[in-house]
Amino acid sequence: MSGNKTFTMIKPDAVADGHTGAIIKMIEEAGFKVVAMKKTQLTSEQAGQFYAVHKERPFYADLCRYMSSGAIVPMILEKSNAVADFRTLIGATDPAKADEGTVRKLYAKSIEANAIHGSDSDENAAIEGSFFFAGTEQY
Ligand code: CMP
Repeated sequence: MSGNKTFTMIKPDAVADGHTGAIIKMIEEAGFKVVAMKKTQLTSEQAGQFYAVHKERPFYADLCRYMSSGAIVPMILEKSNAVADFRTLIGATDPAKADEGTVRKLYAKSIEANAIHGSDSDENAAIEGSFFFAGTEQY
């Protein structure tokens, strides 16, 4: 059975462009409850840790640089079927391939600066949520 939590972060491009509020509105209107949230900035090392699964990929160094270039807004979200429903809401990794009305179609600039992250499994949602919110109260 699929879980009821997922992890997301609004990425530096979308935060810098002032889209944080509009994106959170989309998330809440889609039925997700924000149970933990903060605004923070990663070091390049922390970005590398978070995306360690991609360390052999050619875009890894650029991704670490980009993800540590400005403020981000990580969140833990709650809803039934959270992981799959959230990935539908945000759309494809490449905004050129994202469906109309998705967060990435509306706000992403490129396949790298793609506005928002969404966990790809219940297991990764738990790992990624702990990365930012271990020991934090959830409401
Ligand atoms: P995300 O869903 O957070 O997971 C990994 C991230 O790496 C992805 O979003 C993009 O920001 C980035 N990414 C994935 N594929 C590419 C690519 N082909 N070129 C550059 N960046 C990528």
